[in-house]
Amino acid sequence: MGDLLATRVVVTDLARFRKVIDLSDSKLVGLPSGHIHSDELRKIPPGGSFEVRDKRYYILSCDMHDFILDGLKRNTQIVYPKDAGYILMKMDIAPGKRIGEAGTGSGALTAVFSRAIGDEGRLYTYEHDIGLVNHAISTLGLGDGDTNIVIHHRALEEGIDEQDLDAFFLDVREPWKVLKTVYDALKPSGHLGVLVPTTNQVSRMLQGLNLYDILVTEVTEIFLRSYKHVPGRLRPLDRMVAHTGYLIFARKLRPGSYKPFQKDVPVFEEDDEPDAG
Ligand SMILES: C[S@@+](CC[C@H](N)C(=O)[O-])C[C@H]1O[C@@H](n2cnc3c(N)ncnc32)[C@H](O)[C@@H]1O
Repeated sequence: MGDLLATRVVVTDLARFRKVIDLSDSKLVGLPSGHIHSDELRKIPPGGSFEVRDKRYYILSCDMHDFILDGLKRNTQIVYPKDAGYILMKMDIAPGKRIGEAGTGSGALTAVFSRAIGDEGRLYTYEHDIGLVNHAISTLGLGDGDTNIVIHHRALEEGIDEQDLDAFFLDVREPWKVLKTVYDALKPSGHLGVLVPTTNQVSRMLQGLNLYDILVTEVTEIFLRSYKHVPGRLRPLDRMVAHTGYLIFARKLRPGSYKPFQKDVPVFEEDDEPDAG
């Protein structure tokens, strides 16, 4: 992915203002109290501060959380950091792993995955919308050779080139339609993760998963409540991101090792049934 964070800094007034700035661009940066040129910002080391018209700003190195929430241009819904952190843990995403995802979307999870697998790992990301493929290429700096990401402009229904993947994450509208393709691309015991925004999609996905030699390990939703960090008046912030999506985690079993159909799984109307491929 190149060193996406190295050229970026965060400028904040420690109140409402926060901005991620790419210092490789030479430009005027707007602030609540005026402007500063990026050439001036470059001279201030991270951890330092400066004033513009009597207002103090602090300059920090940009971390992945900053980049996802404040630095990445969103052209789709993204996977939020609160979910991405748990996804990394549940799917055992670590240096050297070979993993897949669809769709690339705005590239938020792509950036997180790419960083976690390191230089020795490979991330194969599939996206059927050419506009979003080009967006990912420019925002994640793909195409300069220095990347562990391979981007495929393709609908997942048309197949996955790779085999024996350690993990695959699905963030598409109808994940049950691509289950066979993903199942075939995973290695036995490999991790599958899925994010869907509505409960009916969860039910439908569970019904689809039930058609394969796949062990569902968890269906979950993550709430994150942050606090106003004023020592004498410690209380939650008024607002929170109340809903992002439901997460489904599963593991691939060897073909034939599973399973009697679970009778408690709700069955959809016939014309509503997931496509087993
Ligand atoms: C919600 S966005 C993904 C956001 C992404 N995970 C992120 O964190 O930025 C869903 C993406 O999946 C793509 N998509 C939907 N169905 C697809 C399919 N069958 N094959 C490939 N891409 C698909 C859409 O074009 C869209 O960009």
